[in-house]
Amino acid sequence: MLKDLKLFLELLRPYKRRVRFALFIGGVAGLCTGAGITLGAEKLFGIVLNGGSERDLGQVILIASIFPILFVTIGVSTFLSTYHLNHAGLAVIRDLRAELFSHIQRLPLAFFQTKKTGDLIARLTADTQAMQYALTITGRDLAIAPLTFLGAVAMLAYKGWEHDGVVYIYCSIALLPLVIFPVRKLTQKLGQKAKAQQEELSSVTNDLSQNLGAAKEVRAFNLQDRENRRFGERLEELFSSQMKVVKYTFALSPIVEIISSIGLASAFVIGYYKGVSGEVFIAIFAALYFSYSPIKRISYLAGELKKGAESLKRIREIIAEPNNIEEPEKPVSPDSIRGKIEFREVSFSYGESPALVDASATIETGCVCALVGPSGAGKSTFANLVPRFYDANKGQTLLDGIAIKRFRTTDLRRKIAIVSQDPVLFDDTIAENIRLGRLDATDEEVREAAQQAFADDFIKEQSEGYDTIVGERGARLSGGQKQRIAIARAFLRNAPILILDEATSALDSESERKVQDALNKLVIGKTVLIIAHRFSTIKNASKILVFEQGKIIDQGSHAELYERCKLYRSLYDQQVS
Ligand SMILES: Nc1ncnc2c1ncn2[C@@H]1O[C@H](COP(=O)(O)OP(=O)(O)OP(=O)(O)O)[C@@H](O)[C@H]1O
Ligand SMILES: [Mg+2]
Repeated sequence: MLKDLKLFLELLRPYKRRVRFALFIGGVAGLCTGAGITLGAEKLFGIVLNGGSERDLGQVILIASIFPILFVTIGVSTFLSTYHLNHAGLAVIRDLRAELFSHIQRLPLAFFQTKKTGDLIARLTADTQAMQYALTITGRDLAIAPLTFLGAVAMLAYKGWEHDGVVYIYCSIALLPLVIFPVRKLTQKLGQKAKAQQEELSSVTNDLSQNLGAAKEVRAFNLQDRENRRFGERLEELFSSQMKVVKYTFALSPIVEIISSIGLASAFVIGYYKGVSGEVFIAIFAALYFSYSPIKRISYLAGELKKGAESLKRIREIIAEPNNIEEPEKPVSPDSIRGKIEFREVSFSYGESPALVDASATIETGCVCALVGPSGAGKSTFANLVPRFYDANKGQTLLDGIAIKRFRTTDLRRKIAIVSQDPVLFDDTIAENIRLGRLDATDEEVREAAQQAFADDFIKEQSEGYDTIVGERGARLSGGQKQRIAIARAFLRNAPILILDEATSALDSESERKVQDALNKLVIGKTVLIIAHRFSTIKNASKILVFEQGKIIDQGSHAELYERCKLYRSLYDQQVS
């Protein structure tokens, strides 16, 4: 428990003044409960039980008024303590979520191929939530419970000293070590179960996110029953792991209760045997109660801290993920980039089998270079290495003779515009989606870019024009429209290097022509890597690289390649026929 506690106190360090105040004021509440109420009860019952002879109304009122004063103090200090602990706890959660999110933004693309979206979402939401619970709800007990306990034990010691009945202290304290062992065992178990529960929660979130992302496929292939069954199974697994957590969480309390009831019972017997007076008896009972109930709270708290600590571990796992796309220590200014791209014997693999093998090619400034080859030959991989989405395992990629690793990735990527086959739009207005090309572009520039991409006409026809919201991932636009928005982005970016992944999906000829016209205008004066599927595009390229199984097997102009490269000729003939 102490280890987990230390973990959380470390997290709270930036807010330590607030936490100190909360703990102090919580301590006041604890002392008032543990010692104050006990003492008050003795005084009051002393009068009530021994009444008669010395009944004095003024004195009774005076002593009775201790209670409102005590409870006001307890109430106000409990509120203040809880309020400030929650403040600090929620702030920690906010900071942690921000840190996790911003770390995820920096992680390399390769990371997302090993981790699942749903799992990341669960860590950012459910795990931080579990920690929030540990930090705030139980934070209050952290301050109040130990002091209640100390206050009550002090009262017992005092009574023991006053009435030579040290036995009472033993009654409560001697039994305490009995509590520690089962509590420790159970908390350990609880930690394991909590980890399993959070993992199940990740799976559920993951299934959900996959299902929601495939709404169309589920309907098209009538997958509803299959999806219901699978999700139902997941929920069942989550349920059973949650119930295990419930079991271990609430098994703690009866154990403490059983032991404390033995303490109370023996106190009763010994008290009777010793012939203790009524009011002292009540005080001792109150003190015993107030020393056991915080132990119960503390053992519960130990469980919650354990659960929180498991979640914190899951969050830290992501924060510890390294960004293996290294930034240069002394970055080169990107101002000089004109756009000459050079690959020198570059090899790369995503996993076991190589995706690119000893690829060498030079693409001069202003050259339109087409990448051609069968599916899986390494064209996209080649293009992905230029903006350093991945780093080559071997060899070098250079821009204007400078290794790309010597530029900051942000600087490098600013010089590259990418138009992909299936552009992703954010659920925002059309104007904002275009502005992603260059965040400081004016409305006028956004409009100009749209005009150049032949997107202006259809945008104006939308209900809200440029302020029309496009829906999640651009769901309310057609494929061709999305592509033209992506092209408008690239116009706005006006970068010297352009990477185009030509659409394979057939657009209708009108839309296709517009996209084509826009692209033809876009490529002017830029170094272009185009992953080409249409031979009309390929024939116009000034250079063609032919890929096969990760290798560049030939390069040259259309005429040259048609003449000498068998693969190229067969690809070309296939399409033309
Ligand atoms: N993210 C990835 N993780 C693991 N392997 C990958 C990944 N992306 C591609 N590959 C593998 O690398 C090889 C090259 O893929 P690449 O995407 O470069 O092919 P391509 O030429 O662009 O094909 P296509 O014309 O179908 O787009 C393939 O064997 C593919 O399975
Ligand atoms: Mg590809």
